[in-house]
Amino acid sequence: MTDSCKNPTLRGAVAIGCIVTAGIVWSLAYAQRSLRSTNVMTTVLFDHGLSAIEPQAPAGWTNEWCGSCHRAAFDQWHNSKHAVAGANENFEAQFLEATGGRAQWCLNCHAPANHGASNHASMEPKDIDNLFVARPDWLTSGVDCLSCHVRDSQVLGLNVTSSGQAAHPMREAPELGTSEFCGGCHQFAHKPRQFPDGFRGRLQQASLIELIEQNRASGDTLRCHDCHLPAGNHTMPGGYDRELVLGALDLTLVASWEPALNAIQLVVTVTAQGVGHRVPGGEHFFRYLSIRTALHDTSGKSVTPRKQALSASGDTRSARSLVLGELPHVEEIRKRLGDFERGTESGVEPTPDTRLNPNETRKFVYLVPLAQKDVGKSLQARTTLWYHVLDPAEGERFHLPTEELSWELHRVTSEIVAGTKVAQERKISRKTFYSK
Ligand code: HEC
Ligand code: HEC
Ligand code: HEC
Ligand code: HEC
Ligand code: HEC
Repeated sequence: MTDSCKNPTLRGAVAIGCIVTAGIVWSLAYAQRSLRSTNVMTTVLFDHGLSAIEPQAPAGWTNEWCGSCHRAAFDQWHNSKHAVAGANENFEAQFLEATGGRAQWCLNCHAPANHGASNHASMEPKDIDNLFVARPDWLTSGVDCLSCHVRDSQVLGLNVTSSGQAAHPMREAPELGTSEFCGGCHQFAHKPRQFPDGFRGRLQQASLIELIEQNRASGDTLRCHDCHLPAGNHTMPGGYDRELVLGALDLTLVASWEPALNAIQLVVTVTAQGVGHRVPGGEHFFRYLSIRTALHDTSGKSVTPRKQALSASGDTRSARSLVLGELPHVEEIRKRLGDFERGTESGVEPTPDTRLNPNETRKFVYLVPLAQKDVGKSLQARTTLWYHVLDPAEGERFHLPTEELSWELHRVTSEIVAGTKVAQERKISRKTFYSK
C-alpha cells in the first residue's frame, strides 16, 4: 500500500485506488508466479515507471562506445522505436500536455537514462519547457543500451564470458531473458498526479498479463523476445512495422444476394494470427483497428440502402446480422479509456474491450436492403482494414501529421449482380498495402 492509501483525508476517494492498486500488485505478483516455472525469478529491472533508474555507468560508457564493438546491436537499436521513445513528435506533444503529461514518470520509461532525474514520479522534470530545444543526449537516445544493460557500473548480459569480462565488467542477468523484463515498462495502469508512488485505475498496457493468459490457454511458453527480439534483433518491431502487423491480421469478404430480403449480404471476417496478446497490442489509448465496408455501383457511386425495415418474417438472420442503414459502415476494434479505466469515478461501467483475442476470427454479417432501382445492377462490395497508431482527432489536437497516423493494411473487393435470382460473384481480388 502506498502512503496516499493511508492518508485519512484522502481516504474516501482513495479507497478504490487502493483496491485497484492491490489488484495490480496482485496481478503483477501473479505474473511473476506464473513465469517462475519457465524463467528464473529475479527482480525486474524497471518498476513500471514509478522510479528513475540509476545505471551508474562509468564515464565514457555511451551508446556509441557500446556500438563500437556491438555494431549489429547498435544499428538495429538505432533504427528502433526504443531509440526515439524520448524524442518522437507524438511523445513530445503528449509529454508537454498540461493535463496528462509533464511528469518525470513519463521519462522513467521513455528516456530512462536521465541522470539528473528527480526521483519523484509525479513531479515536472527540470527545465521541461526547454527540453525539446536543448535535446540532451539522454532524451534523444530514448530507451538506450545503458537503460537496459547497465547497473552498478557493470554490463548485464545473459552470457558472461572471459572475453566479455575483459572488455567490460559484467554480470549475468537472467532477467533480461524474461517477459517480465519487458513488462517492467510495457505493463502499467493509470497514475494521476495525486498518486506519486502508486497506480489507480485499470491497466492501460497489459501485454504481459495477456501473454501469460494466452500461454496458459494454448500451453505455449512464448516470451516477448520470441516475436519481438528474434535472434537478439534489437529493432524490436511492433505496431510501426507494417509488415509485422500485416502478417498478424487477415481479412475476408463474401457477398451474396438474399432474394427473400431483396438485400445483399456481406460477410466480413478478420483474423489475428501469431500474436501473443490481444490485437492491437500495446497502448490502449493510442492503437486501434477499423474495418470500412462499402458498396458501389459501376460508376463508383455509393449505394444508398433501402429505408424500410426488413420484414421480420423474411429475416431469419436478424439475431446475428446487422442491417445497414448507411454506407460505408465502419467497425472499430479497440479499447477505449473511460472514467472506470482511469479510476477517476466510482460506480461507472467499464468501456467495452473489442480488441481481438490471440488467434481469434471475428465475423461480421451485414445486410444491405436494396432500393428497387439498384436491383439488377452490377455492384462492387469492398472492405478495408486499417491500423491506426493514434486517433486522427487526437492527432489534430496535437498538430501531428494525420496521414501518417493511419494506414490501410488489407482490401478485399467482390463484384456481384444483385438479381432477383441467384447471386453472381464475379471476381474476388485481394490487395495488400504497405510501404516502408
Ligand atoms: C529495451 C531493452 C534493450 C535495449 C535498449 C538494448 N538491449 Fe541489448 N539486449 C536486451 C535483451 C532483453 C537481450 C537478451 C536477448 C535474448 O534473449 O536473446 C539483449 C541482448 C544483447 C546482447 C547479446 C545478444 C546479441 O544480440 O548479441 C548484446 C551484445 C546487446 N544486447 C547489446 C546491446 C547494445 C550495444 C545496445 C544499445 C545499442 C542494446 N543492447 C540495447 C535488451 C536491450
Ligand atoms: C571494447 C569492445 C566492447 C565494448 C566497448 C562493449 N562491449 Fe560488450 N562485449 C564485448 C565482448 C568481446 C563481449 C563478449 C562476447 C562473447 O563472449 O561472445 C561482450 C559481451 C557483452 C554482452 C553479453 C553478450 C551475451 O551473449 O549475453 C552484452 C549484453 C554486452 N557486451 C553489452 C555491452 C554494452 C551495453 C556496452 C556499452 C555499455 C558494451 N557491451 C561495450 C565487447 C565490448
Ligand atoms: C525502459 C522501458 C522499456 C523496456 C524495458 C522495454 N521497452 Fe519496449 N518500448 C518502450 C517505450 C517507451 C516504447 C514506445 C516507443 C515509441 O514509439 O515512442 C516501446 C516500444 C516497443 C515496441 C513497439 C515498436 C513499434 O514498432 O511500435 C515493441 C514491440 C517493444 N517496445 C518491445 C519490447 C520488448 C520485447 C522488450 C523486452 C525485451 C521491451 N520492449 C522492453 C519502453 C520499454
Ligand atoms: C507470438 C508472438 C508475440 C508475442 C509472444 C508477443 N507479441 Fe507483441 N506483437 C506481436 C505482433 C505480431 C504484433 C503486431 C500486431 C499488434 O499490434 O497486435 C505485436 C504488437 C505489439 C505491440 C504494439 C506495438 C505498437 O506500436 O503499438 C507491443 C507494444 C508489443 N507487441 C509488446 C509485446 C510485449 C511486451 C510482449 C511480451 C509481454 C509481447 N508483445 C509478446 C507478436 C507478439
Ligand atoms: C511504465 C512505462 C511507461 C510510462 C510511465 C509512460 N509510458 Fe508512454 N509508452 C510506454 C510504452 C511501453 C509504449 C509503447 C506502446 C505501444 O507501442 O503500443 C508507450 C507509448 C507511448 C506513446 C506512443 C508513441 C508512438 O510512437 O506512437 C506516447 C505518445 C506516450 N507513450 C506518451 C507517454 C506520456 C506522455 C507519458 C506520461 C504521462 C507516458 N507515455 C508514460 C511506456 C510508458
